[in-house]
Amino acid sequence: MINREGTPRFRVGISTGGGDAPGLNAVIRAVVLSSLHRGWECHGIRDGFHGILAPKQYPNGGVIPLYRDSVRGITHIGGTIIGTTNWGNPLHYPTTGSDGQVYERDRSDEIVNGLAAHGLDAVISIGGDGSMTIAAALARKGVRIIGVPKTIDNDLDGTVVTFGFDTALAFATECLDRLLSTAQAHQRVIVVEVMGRYAGWIALNAGISGSANAILIPEIPYDINKVAAKIKKREADGRCYSIVVVAEGATPAGGDVSVVEHELGRDKRLGGIGERIAHELQELTSRETRLVVLGHLLRGGSPTTFDRLLALRFGAAATRAIEEGQSGVMVALDPPGVRYVPLEEATKRMKTVPLDCDSVRTARDLGIVFGD
Ligand code: F6P
Repeated sequence: MINREGTPRFRVGISTGGGDAPGLNAVIRAVVLSSLHRGWECHGIRDGFHGILAPKQYPNGGVIPLYRDSVRGITHIGGTIIGTTNWGNPLHYPTTGSDGQVYERDRSDEIVNGLAAHGLDAVISIGGDGSMTIAAALARKGVRIIGVPKTIDNDLDGTVVTFGFDTALAFATECLDRLLSTAQAHQRVIVVEVMGRYAGWIALNAGISGSANAILIPEIPYDINKVAAKIKKREADGRCYSIVVVAEGATPAGGDVSVVEHELGRDKRLGGIGERIAHELQELTSRETRLVVLGHLLRGGSPTTFDRLLALRFGAAATRAIEEGQSGVMVALDPPGVRYVPLEEATKRMKTVPLDCDSVRTARDLGIVFGD
């Protein structure tokens, strides 16, 4: 597109990758409005970078213009208007060879060329650790790229918190409140499985806030007998109900994470740990036990005020970062401001729950057990 002065406009591409999180649309809106405000154009890349890699899949094109109207009224809506995917990491893209075998190949050069072909001068990539790793690789290949951290799991390093986490936490806590009354009424044990592959932030914070009696997280391998002992002790004290919150990535001491399936081109799909724990606790305590898996409910819904504001701030900061000539950095919350962290640094390690953090200590002080 050419502006009135006859010069091509600066073009920003936006991509959302990985599992969705409440607040993605708020970032998109902030990027679009901040870009238009600067006289730039904005274009949405469909489904992560699939809009570049497989444009024929999209009748309206894999890269679509985003106007003021495109982002009107979307701040409070979950999901992402440009789509996302956690299949087909471009750095390890699953491809079927002539021998019928599926192998992985690096398609990042195709993205570099595709972005140039669409005339995109800079890209804002919104995602979790996978998306930030892809962004870092593209930055090394010369793409002008800014990362925006998102994940309900809050396991991205370099930022105090990611948007999506507060919304997931608020919903998980509300569910625990609801489950507590029915557990009390029926004198049951209720096991609540929440998301959290590598980090137990949701389980920990919701568990403390929602009066759980046991919290099992990936960072602390558990012994089921210790959880059962806690339930029995409560019974002996006259409280014949208990709430056990389990992160999907929790593992028994000496055991493995519970995997549903592992398809080439995506992370292992976790699940089943809640069921296993519920079954074992019923056996060990003889108390009627029920399982509730919150799963993808945690990823939906309207972002909380905190997440909306953080997402809008991240979107505006990412646009400013482009204007300031930054590249290869991720915007990060560093209260009271937002700073830029090199993508290489943000992706070095996963932000897991420190075993001596105040929340873990608070939980222990409240008598909540971790099964260790
Ligand atoms: O968004 C991260 C996450 O919530 C993980 O906790 C979970 O393992 C994963 O997404 C599940 O993603 P999906 O079912 O979309 O593959």
